[in-house]
Amino acid sequence: MRVIQNLMQGILINKLIIVTLSGNEYGNEDIPLQETMSTKKETVAMKTIGVLTGGGDCPGLNAVIRAVERAGVKYGFETLGIRNGWLGIINGDVEPLTDFSVSGILPKGGTILGTSRTDPLKTATDFQKIQNNMKKFGIHALVVIGGDGTLSAARDLVHRGIPLVGIPKTIDNDISGTDTTFGFDTAVSTVTEAIDRLHTTAESHHRIMVVEVMGRNVGWIAVMAGIAGGADEILIPEVHFNLEEVCKNLKARYDTGKKFSIVVIAEGAHQTDLGLPAIPENQRDECGHEKFVGIGNLLGRELERRLGIETRVTILGHVQRGGSPTAFDRVLATRFGVAAVQLVQAGEFGTMVAIQGNRITSIPIESAVSHLKKVDTHFYELAMTVIGGRR
Ligand code: F6P
Repeated sequence: MRVIQNLMQGILINKLIIVTLSGNEYGNEDIPLQETMSTKKETVAMKTIGVLTGGGDCPGLNAVIRAVERAGVKYGFETLGIRNGWLGIINGDVEPLTDFSVSGILPKGGTILGTSRTDPLKTATDFQKIQNNMKKFGIHALVVIGGDGTLSAARDLVHRGIPLVGIPKTIDNDISGTDTTFGFDTAVSTVTEAIDRLHTTAESHHRIMVVEVMGRNVGWIAVMAGIAGGADEILIPEVHFNLEEVCKNLKARYDTGKKFSIVVIAEGAHQTDLGLPAIPENQRDECGHEKFVGIGNLLGRELERRLGIETRVTILGHVQRGGSPTAFDRVLATRFGVAAVQLVQAGEFGTMVAIQGNRITSIPIESAVSHLKKVDTHFYELAMTVIGGRR
């Protein structure tokens, strides 16, 4: 009896599967026939979740995929993995995920599903294909794991009636309404380790080491890794800096006997702050993104020219997005994945899971993508407070 109750719990109607049950199979001879559904073949329906990863890859994506599948089993859902982000649901490129297929992916970087930067609403035909494929594969709801771009598209699809739940993903930590996102802690750890290593050469050769880190619009990685790595300058898109001032600070440090410096700069820091012209509109990519020209190199060149101190530049680039997630990110990703399935089960579509003060919650996707989460003034001031030699 209990077996049947457990089995029935959470099994919902949509996609048909065949199960065969009998009292003997469960060693429970006294199960009344009508409660076994049938002693022969019987149709029971399960709902199906389709899970996809969109935008740039990020440590922890696989941990989320695993959690969605595992929680899906617990709540009576089948899980279909959709390959390559929105492209997969447009093209009907899916694969069933099972406890077995997601086994062992928890510590792996990247995404086993693949990803793309596809706009699902570029054409009316694509939207029609999404609707058709959801029907074809019996997908009851989507779990969409993505950053600002993917979640903005998710919001638009919700407006058009697609049932889905979002999970925020980005190493940049720029999604509003959530204190943090998985991937960010890993990226900060990677950059911190790089800064530690660069200190060696900086000290030995009495050089300035410029480290360019990711952060198109926000400087979270630069600030947090700058604090953790003991950077001597942190330059971010949110705060306009003055190159003269930067040189003054570095020179003062040099004059006190510290013959080396570490300067962390986010890739999206403004060229105009270096006294260089802003990127013209016609040099933007098709998404309207500023095409980066290597602000780290420009800064390095200027510092060496103005200060006469040997300077080297390291651009960390996609190293920050790769590798195994930290324990923190694995746990957060798992919490997000399970919470997303719970939201699907509760029918709370159009929402995104979030963490606020270590409590998992949900917010409307709409509000999450309404504006980017810029660096908290508190953290920026903290960083500035502990950089030595400042008044
Ligand atoms: O996910 C955002 C981000 O990390 C940005 O900071 C960076 O500009 C971008 O990804 C680079 O993405 P890609 O080179 O993969 O297009």
